[in-house]
Amino acid sequence: MTETAKAVGGLRNVAVAESGISSIDGVRGILAYRGIDIHALAEHSGFEETFALLHDGKLPGRSALAALGSEMARERALPPGLLPILEAMPRSTHPMTALRTAISALGPFDPDADATPAEALLRNSRRLTAQMALVVAAIDRLRNGHRPIAPDPTLSHAANLLYMLRGRQPTASAALAMDVALVLHADHEFNASTFAARVAASTLADLHGAITAALATLKGPLHGGANEAVMRTLEAIGTIERAEPYVREALAAKKKLMGFGHAVYKTEDPRATHLRRLSRSLGEEAGDTRWFVMSERLESVVKAEKGLYANVDFYSASAYRVLGIPTDLFTPIFAVSRIAGWTAHVREQLAANKLIRPEAEYVGPSHVPYVPIDKR
Ligand code: ACO
Repeated sequence: MTETAKAVGGLRNVAVAESGISSIDGVRGILAYRGIDIHALAEHSGFEETFALLHDGKLPGRSALAALGSEMARERALPPGLLPILEAMPRSTHPMTALRTAISALGPFDPDADATPAEALLRNSRRLTAQMALVVAAIDRLRNGHRPIAPDPTLSHAANLLYMLRGRQPTASAALAMDVALVLHADHEFNASTFAARVAASTLADLHGAITAALATLKGPLHGGANEAVMRTLEAIGTIERAEPYVREALAAKKKLMGFGHAVYKTEDPRATHLRRLSRSLGEEAGDTRWFVMSERLESVVKAEKGLYANVDFYSASAYRVLGIPTDLFTPIFAVSRIAGWTAHVREQLAANKLIRPEAEYVGPSHVPYVPIDKR
């Protein structure tokens, strides 16, 4: 350790590198991708457009967007060798574990996997983003004893995801809601999984390895796994009346309430604003507002009791529930979107690479004499 290195718990308020991809103002609750406010993107953009923005640094024109859409639709294919690997996993495998394994396993099949030139890396980023959705849908179909549904190249990334999961064309409002959710989850500065991807990429490991590291990190309930944990909480609460006592009991027992609090936002997470709206409108359209109303109640009690705000994972849970997505697929759906940001960050890291290698503040013993094994 150098004389000056001091540990900062969780690296809070430490800028690890310069980045031009997304920015957060945690005090004012502002998130922007390439300088464009997330509220504008949520209202006007789709996932493909967001992918282009994150990767190219600017919004695409009509023809560039159409070309990207066609290319990503063409990349909707999985190597036949991947399905036996998915089928070999126990049916009880958590889909995030299956997804992490599958993305790692895609590496050897990928013609560009070891390519470092910038063009190949971008091509690979698009392909892996297209494939991530196919893998998630295939995992769900196979574990339920069905063959994967062939993708529909005429559908957007979001609509095709719902189609492959549910086996029927989504309604326009369901497809739009999924698209907005994918836009909202696409990037978030140096969050834990993005940081993991950048650390792996900084060693010049391959893209599949970096994304595998990101997936392993996203799974944890303090990060992307929180959306699944929120749904389990809502199910455990069961009724709107139980929300208040549940929160009081959880706080008294020093338990964390999933979907609340954030390492950076000290006010409303701007993504939660849109997900709350989607959760309400999807519930109303489906004639099932129970999860939304329970979520709202929970939110107001947690705010009053602990001063914590809902984060991105809170209302995505009830929204995905009404969309008919199985609870243990919530975090994989997050990954389907966040891969846009992960791949953009890997490319940014490699464009001006510096091995990420921080230091520890050593607090262990020193000058300890060595004791031979027969004297211990
Ligand atoms: N429920 C109850 N108490 C909480 C919560 C929560 N969700 N979040 C923070 N707190 C409390 C802590 O117990 C602690 O209280 P104390 O000072 O009395 O001990 C205080 O607030 C600070 O908590 P930290 O965990 O140190 O705060 P930090 O800002 O580092 O944590 C985190 C951020 C990890 C997201 C935390 O809020 C949390 O665990 N939330 C629940 C999990 C979650 O929703 N994760 C998803 C985040 S969004 C994402 O990653 C996609």
